[in-house]
Amino acid sequence: MNINIKIGNAEKTLTDMLVFYLYEDIKTVKSTLAYCDKALNNAITELIKKKEFIAKLNKTLILPTYGKIPAKRIMLVGLGTKKDVTLDKIRQAAGTTTGIARDIGIKEVTSAMDSILSEWYPAYTEGCLLSLYKFQRYKNVPAEEKKELKSLTLLLSDKKALASAREAVKHGQIIAGAVCFTRDLINTPAQDKTPSVLADTAKKLAQELAIQCKVLSKPELKKLGMSGLLAVSQGSYQPPKFIILDYNPNAKNQDTIVLVGKGLTFDSGGICLKPAKDMDQMKSDMSGGAAVMGAIKAISKMNLPQRVVGLIPCTENMPSGSAIKPGDIIKLYSGKTAEVANTDAEGRLILADALSYAEKYKPCVVIDLATLTGSCVIALGTVATGMLGNNEELKKRVKIAGEKSWERVWELPLWEEYQELIKSDIADIKNIGGPYAGAITAACFLSKFTEKYPWVHLDIAGTSWCDKNSAYTQKGATGVGVRLLVQLIQHWTRFPK
Ligand code: BES
Ligand code: ZN
Ligand code: ZN
Repeated sequence: MNINIKIGNAEKTLTDMLVFYLYEDIKTVKSTLAYCDKALNNAITELIKKKEFIAKLNKTLILPTYGKIPAKRIMLVGLGTKKDVTLDKIRQAAGTTTGIARDIGIKEVTSAMDSILSEWYPAYTEGCLLSLYKFQRYKNVPAEEKKELKSLTLLLSDKKALASAREAVKHGQIIAGAVCFTRDLINTPAQDKTPSVLADTAKKLAQELAIQCKVLSKPELKKLGMSGLLAVSQGSYQPPKFIILDYNPNAKNQDTIVLVGKGLTFDSGGICLKPAKDMDQMKSDMSGGAAVMGAIKAISKMNLPQRVVGLIPCTENMPSGSAIKPGDIIKLYSGKTAEVANTDAEGRLILADALSYAEKYKPCVVIDLATLTGSCVIALGTVATGMLGNNEELKKRVKIAGEKSWERVWELPLWEEYQELIKSDIADIKNIGGPYAGAITAACFLSKFTEKYPWVHLDIAGTSWCDKNSAYTQKGATGVGVRLLVQLIQHWTRFPK
C-alpha cells in the first residue's frame, strides 16, 4: 500500500473514504469534522448525542455522504478516552481502519489526522501496514476475491508539519516492512526454509542492505568445534548453517551489540519426539533468528550508528538413526560438556555455541531471542515475553523498549538456587532441570556461556505465534522482537562499562 501525505481540507477532499478519529470523552465535533458534519446536516453530532456511536477503542461507524461532500463515505474510529490513549491504541485504531477498509473492498482511503499527534505517526503507520499483512504465498486466491487497499493519504492541516511527518511515516514503513519480512520467514513451511535456504535469504538481505554476511557450513563448524549445533543437526538430512550478519556503520564511539537468534527451522523434538498435536507450529522455532534478521534490516535502513551483529545458528531437530540420543554428552564450543538428558531441549545447545562465539566481537551487550520453552508459555501466556539476564542496566533498557514498542517483557528470576537444578552427575551441566521452572533453568543453562558480557535472554515461545486475529496481527507469526529491538537500538546511549 502506498502512503501519501497531503495538506488540505477534509470537506473538500475527493476520496472513497474519509476517516476521523474521535475520543470517547470528547462529545463535540471539532475542526475539519465540524465542516463535514454541517454539510451532512449535523448527522455526526446526532449520532454521538444519541450514543449510536460511542468512540470506544476500535469501534467504528461508516456513513454514506450522498454527495454532500466530495468524500464518498465517512468512517468514524474510536480512540477511547483521551487521558488513556497510548501509542499502541493508536497502532490498533490505525490497524482497525485499514483492516476494515480492505475487507469491505475499498481501494483508497484518506485519514484526517486532526486527533493524531505527529509523534504518533510511526506507530500509526505501523498499525496500518501490519493490519494488511497476509501470508498467501501458498493459496490460490481467485482474482475477484483479492482485496487490496492500494493507497492511504494522511491529511494534515499544517504545512510546517509536512517534513517531519514524511520522516515519521518513513520510519513506520521501515519497521512494518521488517516485521512483515520476519512474519513471512516464520510462516513459511519448514520444507521451504531449510537452514540452507535461510542462509541464502540472509545473504540476499545483506546484499540488499550492503552489509556483511558470512555463513559457516559443516566443515567450518567442525573445525571450530561448534558441537552443540552439530549435535542437534546430526539427525537431519539438512546440513546446519551458522549465519553471521554484520551491520557496521563504523561510526565514532559506536557500541557493538550482538543479537543471537534461535534458528530451529523445525523442532520435532528429535528422539524425544513431540506429540503430533500442534507439531506443525514448530516451523516457528526459528522466530528468534527471523526477528534478528528483521531487526537488522530495519536498523540498517534507518542508518543507526551502532554496530549490530546478528548470530543465527540454524538447524532442524529430527529423529533418525544418526540423531543424538538421550544420555549423550557433547563438548560445546566453550569447552564445557553438557549431558543431553532430553533431545527436545535443543535450543539451548545451539544457543550456547552462538553465545560463546559472540565473545569474539567484544560486545558491549548481547541479547538473545528464542522460542525456548513451553514453560514460559505456561508462566506468561501469549502476552509477555520472558526476560532473564545478568545485568540490571540492560534489563532496564529492554524493559523500557518493550513498553514503548508494546512488545512487553516480564522478568523471571535467575537466582543462584536454580543453577542447582541443571547439575549433572557425569558432565559439567545437563540440558534439562526437572519439571519445575523450565524457563528459568533453560536460562540458567545459557547463563553459563554469557559470563563475559552483559546479557539478556528473551524467551518468545509464547509471544511469537498467535491463534487469533487482532487489530494489526493475524493468526500465525507475530514478528515479535523486531519492534522491541529497533526501539532499543534507535534510542541507544553508550553502555556503561
Ligand atoms: N521449541 C521448544 C519450545 C516451544 C514450546 C516453543 C512451545 C514454542 C511453543 C523447545 O525446543 C522445547 O521443546 N522445549 C522443551 C524443553 C523441555 C524438554 C525441557 C519444553 O519447553 O517443553
Ligand atoms: Zn525442542
Ligand atoms: Zn525448540
